[in-house]
Amino acid sequence: MRFFILTIALFVINDYQGKISDAAYTFGNLNVILKVPDGISTVENPHRAEFNKLLWCQANEDANTILPIDSVLYRHEKTNQTFDQTTTPPVQLHDEHRALLNFTGVPLTEILSGKYVCHINSTNDIDIHGNQFVYIRPFFHFNDIEAKLSHDDEPFNVIGTTLSTNKGNTVTFPCPAAGGPNLTVTWERNNGLPEKHQRNGFDLIIPDVDESDEGEYRCIATATVKNETKSPEYVLEATLTHYLKKVTSYIFDEESGLSDDATQTEDANNNNSEVI
Ligand SMILES: *[C@@H]1O[C@H](CO)[C@@H](O)[C@H](O)[C@H]1NC(C)=O
Ligand SMILES: *[C@@H]1O[C@H](CO)[C@@H](O)[C@H](O)[C@H]1NC(C)=O
Ligand SMILES: *[C@@H]1O[C@H](CO)[C@@H](O)[C@H](O)[C@H]1NC(C)=O
Ligand SMILES: *[C@@H]1O[C@H](CO)[C@@H](O)[C@H](O)[C@H]1NC(C)=O
Ligand SMILES: *[C@@H]1O[C@H](CO)[C@@H](O)[C@H](O)[C@H]1NC(C)=O
Ligand SMILES: *[C@@H]1O[C@H](CO)[C@@H](O)[C@H](O)[C@H]1NC(C)=O
Repeated sequence: MRFFILTIALFVINDYQGKISDAAYTFGNLNVILKVPDGISTVENPHRAEFNKLLWCQANEDANTILPIDSVLYRHEKTNQTFDQTTTPPVQLHDEHRALLNFTGVPLTEILSGKYVCHINSTNDIDIHGNQFVYIRPFFHFNDIEAKLSHDDEPFNVIGTTLSTNKGNTVTFPCPAAGGPNLTVTWERNNGLPEKHQRNGFDLIIPDVDESDEGEYRCIATATVKNETKSPEYVLEATLTHYLKKVTSYIFDEESGLSDDATQTEDANNNNSEVI
C-alpha cells in the first residue's frame, strides 16, 4: 500500500505509567503535505485533499509487534479540536492495528493545519501519544470575486479586482487567504499604504478615498510549509494584487437624479464602486 512506502521513522513518546516504562511507542508518518493545485479556490470548486492523503499512527511494542487498538483520538493542538470516527476528516481503523486521519476529498479550507496529537489506548491498556503535522501552502479562497492567476509558479500570484470609485467612498480589498500553519497576511503598496487604512481581519479598508490613494495594493499571505516530507520547514508566500485605478469627483445631476457615473454597478465588497 502507498502509505506503507511513505513510512518514515518518527516520534517516540511513552505515557505508559506501568512496570515496563518503555513498553510501547507510537509510530506513523511524521507529516502530510496537502497539495494545492493553484492560487485560486472557489466556493463552487474548492481545492480538496487528494485521495489517501492521511496521517496514520500505531502503537508498537517493538519493531515487529503492533498492539491492537482499543480506542483512538486525534487532537489538533492549537484549537484542541478532536477527531474520531464521526468527524470530518474521520479517524478510520485499519485492521484494528492502525489509526488513520483520512483527509481524502475534504476541502482544504476546512482542514486545520499544524500539529496533531494521535492518542492511542491499546487493548492491553497502554496509553500513548505522538505528534504529527499537516502543511498547506498559502492560497486564496473566494466567494464570487473575479480573480485571475497571473502565473502559477512559486509563489502563487493572483490578480484580484480593479476598482474606480468616487472620492469620499470607502473601498474594501478582500484577502481571503488560507493555508498554514502560521498563516499571516500583510498589505503593501509601492508608495506605502495610506495612513488612514484599516484592517478587518485579513481585509484592507481605505475610508474616504481620494486620488492619492490610487495604486496597486498587494496582500501577501505567508505560511510555514514543507515541499517534501523530509525537507525542512520554510516560509512560502502567495500574493493577491488589487488595483484602485481612478478616484473621481462625484457629480450629482439634480435634474435627472443620476450621478455622472451612469454605469455604476454594485460590487460585493464596495458599494458605489465600479468594477472594470
Ligand atoms: C480514505 O478515505 C477514502 C474516502 O472515504 C477511502 O476511499 C479510502 O479507502 C480511505 N483510505 C484508507 C487508507 O483507508
Ligand atoms: C485512554 O484511556 C484513558 C484512561 O482510561 C482515558 O482518559 C483516555 O481518554 C483514553 N484515550 C482514548 C484515545 O480513548
Ligand atoms: C487545550 O487543552 C489543554 C488541556 O487539555 C489546555 O491546557 C489548553 O489550554 C487547551 N487549549 C485551548 C486552545 O483551548
Ligand atoms: C510555525 O509553525 C510551526 C509548526 O506548527 C511551529 O513550530 C512554529 O513555532 C511556528 N513559527 C512561528 C514563527 O509561529
Ligand atoms: C525543497 O526545499 C528544499 C529546501 O528547503 C530544497 O533544497 C529542495 O530542492 C526542495 N525540493 C523541491 C522538490 O522543490
Ligand atoms: C452595502 O450597502 C448595503 C445596503 O445599504 C449594506 O447592507 C452593506 O453592508 C454595504 N456593504 C458594504 C461592504 O459596505
